[in-house]
Amino acid sequence: MDIPFNKPYVGDAEREAVAEAVQQDVLHGDGPITERVQERLQDWLDVEWALLTTSCTHALEMVMMTLDVGPGDEVIMPSFNFVSAANAVVLQGGTPVFAEIRPDTLNLDPAAVEERITDDTVAIVPVHYGGVACDMEALLALEEKYDVAIVEDAAQGVDAYWKGWPLGTIGDIGCYSFHDTKNVTSGEGGAFLTDDDNIAKRAEIIREKGTNRSAFYRGEVDKYSWVDEGSSYIPSDLLAALLEAQLDRRDEIREKRKQVWTTYRENLRPLADEGLIELQTIPEYADSNYHLFYLRTNTPEERDELLAALKENGIQATFHYVPLHSSPYGRETLGCTVELPITQHCSETLIRLPVYPQLADQADKVAQEVDSTVKSVLGKSTFRAA
Ligand SMILES: Cc1ncc(COP(=O)(O)O)c(C=O)c1O
Repeated sequence: MDIPFNKPYVGDAEREAVAEAVQQDVLHGDGPITERVQERLQDWLDVEWALLTTSCTHALEMVMMTLDVGPGDEVIMPSFNFVSAANAVVLQGGTPVFAEIRPDTLNLDPAAVEERITDDTVAIVPVHYGGVACDMEALLALEEKYDVAIVEDAAQGVDAYWKGWPLGTIGDIGCYSFHDTKNVTSGEGGAFLTDDDNIAKRAEIIREKGTNRSAFYRGEVDKYSWVDEGSSYIPSDLLAALLEAQLDRRDEIREKRKQVWTTYRENLRPLADEGLIELQTIPEYADSNYHLFYLRTNTPEERDELLAALKENGIQATFHYVPLHSSPYGRETLGCTVELPITQHCSETLIRLPVYPQLADQADKVAQEVDSTVKSVLGKSTFRAA
């Protein structure tokens, strides 16, 4: 068996879309294709503003500038997280504050978030881990109670929903990733979503190097100039063309991922019933996009042993986020002293299995291989907790 962890799902439609885009006279960003894709996202997601960006990381940087995060400001997020939101806060001179997650979804625990809110808290940045919605009801209640912004890091949440609402459109601002590990991809890319005109107008300027060029293009001003801080966050129209072709196939992508996810789930459930592993929980309020499938072992030692055995058997399974609070930058530079035992344990016991549409036909075989590897490694494990 030789199963890589990820394979972007691109074919003739994507190749043709890019080839066609190259023929236009416009290659820079905010050309006709970018405009079309942004409108399409706005219609599909029922959101007022969707701005394509060069990455989700950049969308998060735009967020922190738009919210005027600065020295003394705190932004709460999970430590079980990619580095982007934390970096975006640090780049503005603010302080990321790390809160504990729930062990069933690995999403922020709203009660733990509330404990970390202070007068300096400006925003909460929930991550919808694996495309499974956070408990947004509880987080929106905190937004109301403490008057803080909710910024959804929906990097993994494209085509996933909370009570029917698309992830990324529930809080004040949402950020998507179209990196090639994501369900819908343009290689690198992202989006900044909001319903708030004031936030969007500021974001538009920040995205366009701190100029009002977007307003100029719309004929709202007769020349554009430097009006605010900003950077270059606009992707080329070529990437928008690739993204458009992917959006056309999003139902097919989701369906095939679901097939892989469900096959793994059904095959591995008996191992979970035996207590050898734990599987992901999807709460009733969440409609997943099947972005990833993970299992957890009982101990870190079991995880490492199982990961090595899966690799040996040709399945490139992998771990995920190394907690930010206990990272070298978190501990030594930011001086984080918080202890987050659930985060630490979940991070050390997690294994992600390969999930992508091309695996739909082989998922049974992969699941059987995982099943037998788990039995041979963990069935005889000396690390099992009593
Ligand atoms: C939760 C989260 N946020 C942000 C990002 C960064 O996305 P991008 O690669 O588009 O910058 C990732 C990447 O995997 C992520 O998992």
